Amino acid sequence: MSSPSNVRADFVWGVSTASYQIEGAVQEDGRGPSIWDRYCRQIGRIANGDSGDIACDHYHRYAEDIDQMRTLGISAYRFSVAWPRVLPTGRGAVNVTGLAFYDRLIDALLSAKIEPWLCLYHWDLPQALDDRGGWISRDCALWFADYVAVVARHFGDRVQRFATFNEPSVFTLLGYALGSHAPGIADRTAHLRAIHHVNLGHGAGVDVLRSLVPAASIGAIHNYQPCHPSPDTPQNAAAAQRLDAYWNRAFPDPQLLAFYPPSIAEAIEPYQQAGDMAAICRQVDWFGLNHYAPIYCKADPGALLGFSFADAPAHLGRTGIGWPICPDAFRETLLAISGHYRLPIYVLENGYGGPEHADANGQVEDIARIDYLNGYTQAMKEAIGVGADVRGYFVWSLLDNFEWAEGYAQRFGLIHVDYESQRRTPKASAGWYAQLIAASRQALASG
Ligand code: FCB
Repeated sequence: MSSPSNVRADFVWGVSTASYQIEGAVQEDGRGPSIWDRYCRQIGRIANGDSGDIACDHYHRYAEDIDQMRTLGISAYRFSVAWPRVLPTGRGAVNVTGLAFYDRLIDALLSAKIEPWLCLYHWDLPQALDDRGGWISRDCALWFADYVAVVARHFGDRVQRFATFNEPSVFTLLGYALGSHAPGIADRTAHLRAIHHVNLGHGAGVDVLRSLVPAASIGAIHNYQPCHPSPDTPQNAAAAQRLDAYWNRAFPDPQLLAFYPPSIAEAIEPYQQAGDMAAICRQVDWFGLNHYAPIYCKADPGALLGFSFADAPAHLGRTGIGWPICPDAFRETLLAISGHYRLPIYVLENGYGGPEHADANGQVEDIARIDYLNGYTQAMKEAIGVGADVRGYFVWSLLDNFEWAEGYAQRFGLIHVDYESQRRTPKASAGWYAQLIAASRQALASG
């Protein structure tokens, strides 16, 4: 087992989840509909016709889920607030019953000595705002800032760690260019506008957090995956560079370095106004990194953005969901980001997904997940050893949950969820992670 004894004394071990993927209770206590509620109702969008209607019923079972976290020994839990639970129509009237759910969650976490890491946006935009254009509209940045103010005022006395957005490049690309995530749009202009407006929302959100929560420690969460041509031809290499701009750089570059990647700057230009870049590039405290695998692509002149995804080389292993396994790419990503953006890094998602079944005793011997996590945490340790400033690591995910367009077929949890009974059963990997955390603490204690 990897035991990262070279981590800092304040290294944060955690797990991550997201509101729509686990909460359920979509019509309870005044929650308004989100774009994902609508998207899931459209025939053929989600594997097996699944939706987040019930998900892990975490809305009612959060206390039990915190008991599971306690057993893991984690010191932090990253979750997201569902905007439509707090503001059912996205703006205006606040739903105090919705806020009360997160009060219960946060208070229970604090009494379990688990630090809440609150992500403001993990993809569940209120449907009422999408009806007004959603992220295609510049106003959405202002609507987001108003929502951030409600959350900051209410929870800022107990929460210090805030992330503005989870994986903005994924939800803009898949949601507005490829149409394979909510709101299901495939339009080049919509995509470009959404990129810029989400960046404006980030900057405005940071300003609100700074003014309302002086002690806040703020970041955004970016997925960052090396993009490779497959096969390696000049056309495919150019496609990989374009993908890299949209996938890896379209958000961190303007947010942290005050420019758009050259290959997309011109396309974004028509949607920019004077002063925008200064409003986007606000000081943050850390870089939230989600990383699972490198990605492969090829030129595709017929595709909206001129590229499409391609298969990884056969020599790389794959997870059950089919993502390449490559801890080397994780190590390189950590070093590259540390050098490029010069911020402390918190790995806020990393994990293994696949179809899994419990055995007759309800157990899941998820050896492949343990191997994956072992390899990746080892790679992180190596990156730290050669200078990457990594301060925390969070497994995706605590529980099996609603995996977006894949529905419930793909499981990422350390804890198995039987969706019929909602019974939670720790997998073998949960024990592995608890031991890793304990060993890391012990190594630090014994100097
Ligand atoms: C990430 C998402 C997260 C989850 C994992 C598997 O892209 O942020 O919600 O679906 O992938």
